[in-house]
Amino acid sequence: MLILIVGITGALGGHLAESAFARKHTVRGLGRSPKSLAPNIAARLESFVELQSYDDRTAIDKACCGVDAVICALRSVPELELDAQLLLLRAAERAGIKIFVSSTWNNDWTKMRLGDFEHYDAHISFRRQAELSSPISPVYLFVGVFAEYLFEFTCFPPRDNEDGSGKEITYWDSPHMKIDWTSMPDAAEFTLEVLDDEGVKQGNGGCFSFRSGETTVQELADTYGRVTGVKMEFVRGGSEDELEALALKHRSTSDVKDYFSYAIYLFHLFTVKRVWRLENLWDSPKIQRTTLEEAVAAKV
Ligand SMILES: NC(=O)c1ccc[n+]([C@@H]2O[C@H](COP(=O)([O-])OP(=O)(O)OC[C@H]3O[C@@H](n4cnc5c(N)ncnc54)[C@H](OP(=O)(O)O)[C@@H]3O)[C@@H](O)[C@H]2O)c1
Repeated sequence: MLILIVGITGALGGHLAESAFARKHTVRGLGRSPKSLAPNIAARLESFVELQSYDDRTAIDKACCGVDAVICALRSVPELELDAQLLLLRAAERAGIKIFVSSTWNNDWTKMRLGDFEHYDAHISFRRQAELSSPISPVYLFVGVFAEYLFEFTCFPPRDNEDGSGKEITYWDSPHMKIDWTSMPDAAEFTLEVLDDEGVKQGNGGCFSFRSGETTVQELADTYGRVTGVKMEFVRGGSEDELEALALKHRSTSDVKDYFSYAIYLFHLFTVKRVWRLENLWDSPKIQRTTLEEAVAAKV
């Protein structure tokens, strides 16, 4: 298969390329900055098409020419998730491409409505627009939180505790709440396995879920302690209701264009409410899942 990876210069993009090479696919890259490609990836590419900006139609059409599948792994900001992806989808239509992996690898936002959470609105809008107007049925992938951001997205980053004897993190509701997580290499392996699915090959698209594992705040802190030798303590931020009040207060006093400044509270809130727990998991004994120890060790 000739696979176009859009955003190949990014954090996930490199892992996607490695997983594609491992399966003997031919890989083409599309991006603005070929210089940020790792040399060992650049050397194995069929070609790299340089993009001036995300709406550079000439470059996008050139990149889609002769391609069997597009994997879009652009940065997670609304104009790329919606505007850029729609431009890519239209180019894929013109090129007769049937397989389009949408820039997702998120918590399962199919369980949410437009407006529930700013960070997923562009994804929901893209999916609906594709459904209403495109002959292509994209693939959407759900993996929970990336292991590489486990501390940032599940709790506030570990900070020094008051007497300097260790670290502490904040949690809400219960330290036993479960969190789905996946490492980027595992997410890339999962993506390439999904491309081998018969329905996906025929252009049926669909939603697929996978995780490296699930953890609780308690297990995460214990693992941090084992890996680093530094004790991690919990600070309870409050109850689910208190978290909800805090999230809504930040939302009501902030500019929605600056939603990243308060998104962390909403991330916690929907996690605490168990809105987006993964279900119907992709069953793949072939993927050697990253362990929590490995994920924490890679971070510290
Ligand atoms: N579940 C999670 O915890 C989690 C966390 C983060 C991301 N994700 C998902 O993972 C995927 C990839 O994320 P990532 O962290 O790998 O992204 P990233 O490294 O931040 O960016 C990926 C690529 O986007 C391109 N890009 C950035 N700004 C652009 C612009 N204005 N115009 C055109 N291209 C631009 C860049 O390529 P060039 O500079 O070469 O153009 C970059 O290499 C996204 O779908 C995101 O939803 C999930």
